[in-house]
Amino acid sequence: MPTTEHCVSVRRLLLVTCVTLAVLSVGSCSGDAEQPSLGDAFRQHFLIGAALNDDEMSSRDAKAVAIVLKHCNSVTAENVMKWVHIHPRPDAYDFEAADRFVAFGEKHNMFVAGHALIWHDQIPAWTFVDEQGKLLGRDAMLQRMRQHIETVVGRYKGRVKGWDVVNEALTDEGGLRQSLWVQTVGEDFVAKAFEYTNQVDPGAELYYNDFSLDKPAKRDAAVLLVKDLKARGLRIDAVGIQGHWGMDYPTDGDLDDFISAVGRLGVKVLVTEMDMNILPAAWDYDGADINMRAELRKELNPYPEALPDSMQKVLTDRYGDLFAILVRHAATVDRVTFWGVTDRTSWLNDWPVRGRTSYPLLFDRNYQPKPAFYAVLHTAGSAK
Ligand code: XIL
Repeated sequence: MPTTEHCVSVRRLLLVTCVTLAVLSVGSCSGDAEQPSLGDAFRQHFLIGAALNDDEMSSRDAKAVAIVLKHCNSVTAENVMKWVHIHPRPDAYDFEAADRFVAFGEKHNMFVAGHALIWHDQIPAWTFVDEQGKLLGRDAMLQRMRQHIETVVGRYKGRVKGWDVVNEALTDEGGLRQSLWVQTVGEDFVAKAFEYTNQVDPGAELYYNDFSLDKPAKRDAAVLLVKDLKARGLRIDAVGIQGHWGMDYPTDGDLDDFISAVGRLGVKVLVTEMDMNILPAAWDYDGADINMRAELRKELNPYPEALPDSMQKVLTDRYGDLFAILVRHAATVDRVTFWGVTDRTSWLNDWPVRGRTSYPLLFDRNYQPKPAFYAVLHTAGSAK
């Protein structure tokens, strides 16, 4: 007769075996019923999102879509809502792809995030000049901004639940970027964008979004920006830290301080574009194509076939450590969105240099969960 103790240990053994099998069963990850859903696991903490490319939002990439449906409860458009795509010519808007994106999110009951209304990048040159090519003055430019916001936000009113109203207005040193927005409208262009967006859709959440906000000077500038908006009687619901992170940035302390500082303002934090770069920094080669520069290949693209186990572990630990911080701050952090679905299509394969093999996300090139996926999942169990 087996003793009770024996039964318990057999049951425990079975359980351990099942969990191990689930972790190892990478054959059909996306449809694998055993694989826990990130969205479900973090339901008590924050939303889990992904930025979608065209193949995903139009369901051509079925395997990537399966991952999104299983793990995400929020989506962002990686590109199609940016000015250059949605408003390519002065009197022409192109809503085709953006409509598809919003319909995708709605169909699957996801929180649809809008990215990005006012930014100095991915915006056509005509926006800032008159027919003679002369920079527009403040009034003309404000009119252009208002018309863009009314048209885009108005079209998706009540459907896009939150907007990156302004993207990347600050410098790393904590100043205001001297963009064409500042040169034409002036320093209050941020406030104007928030004012107009709120007027068009008072029900949408409004965000300021930027990278490197963990750096103390930039963090302090973001805090002042929020205070300035509030002092003007404007609403801001969250600050988005993009989260294009690496092996040695941000430091735990800086990330912690940033979230606390924003939280103290009564404003939420979003991680809006999370990915983790383990490739060497390549700023000096911005725009180069790795395949055209044989001498650079080895140096800048060290893992063209696969990630060595040692680096896989570094990546895994890094994801786990940063997520543990986000979970600790779950009262302030409202959403964590990954900038892409799998390593296969991450923008980091082509930026800042083209043609690298990058490993920044939780799912690999074959749509399988990486060890980092399980490290992240594990943090959901830690106390809120
Ligand atoms: C990137 C996209 O991922 C690329 O596909 C595109 O070519 C360039 O833009 N900060 C942002 C995002 O706010 O919009 C950028 O997305 C990445 C940096």
